[in-house]
Amino acid sequence: MKRILVTGGAGFIGSAVCRHLVASGYHVVNVDKLTYAGNLDSLHDVLARPNYSFWQLDISDDTALLDILRRERIEAIMHLAAESHVDRSIDGPAAFLETNVVGTFRLLNAALAYWRELQPEKRQDFRFHHVSTDEVFGDLPFDQGIFTEDTPYAPSSPYSASKAASDHFVRAWHETYGLPVVLSNCSNNYGPYHFPEKLVPLVILNALEGLPLPVYGQGANVRDWLFVDDHARALELVLTRGAVGESYNVGGRAERTNLKVVETICDILDAKRPLAGGGSRRSLIRFVSDRPGHDRRYAIDPAKIERELGWRAQESFESGLDKTIDWYLQNEWWWRPIREQKYSGARLGAAG
Ligand code: NAD
Ligand code: TYD
Repeated sequence: MKRILVTGGAGFIGSAVCRHLVASGYHVVNVDKLTYAGNLDSLHDVLARPNYSFWQLDISDDTALLDILRRERIEAIMHLAAESHVDRSIDGPAAFLETNVVGTFRLLNAALAYWRELQPEKRQDFRFHHVSTDEVFGDLPFDQGIFTEDTPYAPSSPYSASKAASDHFVRAWHETYGLPVVLSNCSNNYGPYHFPEKLVPLVILNALEGLPLPVYGQGANVRDWLFVDDHARALELVLTRGAVGESYNVGGRAERTNLKVVETICDILDAKRPLAGGGSRRSLIRFVSDRPGHDRRYAIDPAKIERELGWRAQESFESGLDKTIDWYLQNEWWWRPIREQKYSGARLGAAG
C-alpha cells in the first residue's frame, strides 16, 4: 500500500482524489490549509477510514511539512494545493504568488530534503506529482490549434502565470537536483463538490433558484470539459506509471462554448425539474461584461496519456453533467451553507 501525501485534498479535485485513492487502498495523508475553497464536508466518505489522515497546514510551512513527510513515511506526493479561481486572481493576485509559486517552492524544498534522506530503493521509487492546468498554454484561436505536451507556455491571467511558474520550478528541481517529478496539465473539471463560484455549479444552482445566469461576453469562449472522477483516475496513473520528468495532458475531448454549457444545464434541469408555469430556464441567461484577458479557447490533445498509460475519459460531457446535476439536486446539505455566505454570481453587478 503506497503512502501518498496529497496537498489541497479538501478542495474540489483534491477531495475527489482522496476519495478515489482511499477507496483504491492507498494510505492518504491530506495536507490542506482550509482556505475559503477547502471543505472537510467534501471528505465525509473517507474521514473515518483507517487509511486516511488529515493535517491542517499551509504548504509554505516547510519545517512542518518535512516533519509530516518523515512521521508518515511518505512514498509519493501529489500536489494540488493552489489558489485556483481566475476571477479572484484578477482582483487579488498576491495570494496566487504566495501559494502557487512560493508555496510550491517551499514544498519542493521539503520534498527534496526528505527524498535525500531516503534509502536508495525508496529514493528511486519516490515521486513528486505536480498537478497543473491547460491554462498555462494560453489563448488558442477559435478555429485551429490544440495543446500538446510540447506547446510553449503563454499564460494570460495572474492565475495561469502563477501555475506556469510553479511548473517551471518543479521541472527545475528535477533537472537541477534530480527530484523524481511527474507533471500533468488538465482541462476544466466539473462534478460533485465543485465550489459554486465556478461556471458549472454556479449556473446549476442559480438556474435551480431562478436567479440570473451570468455569461461573460457573448459566451463564445471554448473550454474542454472533464468529469472530475476521470481526472482522479488519470492522476493515479500519472503518479504510479508516468515516466519521471515527463508531463501528461489530460482532457475530455469535449470542447463546448460557455453558452452551450449553460444552455445544456438549463435543458437538463428543465427536464428533471420542470418550471411550474412551463418555459425554459434559458430565459435566465444574461450576457455580462467580459473577463479581462479572457482566453478564447482551450483544447487538450490527450493522445499521450491515452497511448502511454491507457487512460480514457469514461464520461461524455452530457453523461457527466447529468450525474453532476443529480448530485447537486441530492446534496443541498453541502452547497446551501456555502451559497448562504456569498456566492451567487459575483460579477453580475457588472452587466454588459
Ligand atoms: P480548489 O480551489 O477547489 O482547492 C484548492 C485546495 O487547496 C483547497 O482545499 C485549499 O484550502 C487548499 N489550499 C490553498 N492554498 C493552500 C496553502 N497555501 N496550503 C495548503 N492548502 C492550500 O482547487 P481545485 O479546482 O480542486 O484544483 C486543484 C488543483 O488542480 C490546482 O492546483 C489547480 O490549479 C489544478 N487544476 C484545476 C482545474 C479545474 O478545472 N478546477 C483544472 C486543471 C488543473
Ligand atoms: P471558470 O469556471 O471560472 O473556470 P476557468 O476560468 O478556470 O476556466 O470559467 C469557465 C468559463 O466560463 C470561462 O471561460 C469563464 C466563463 N464564466 C462565465 O461566463 N460566467 C461565470 O459566471 C463564470 C464564473 C465563468
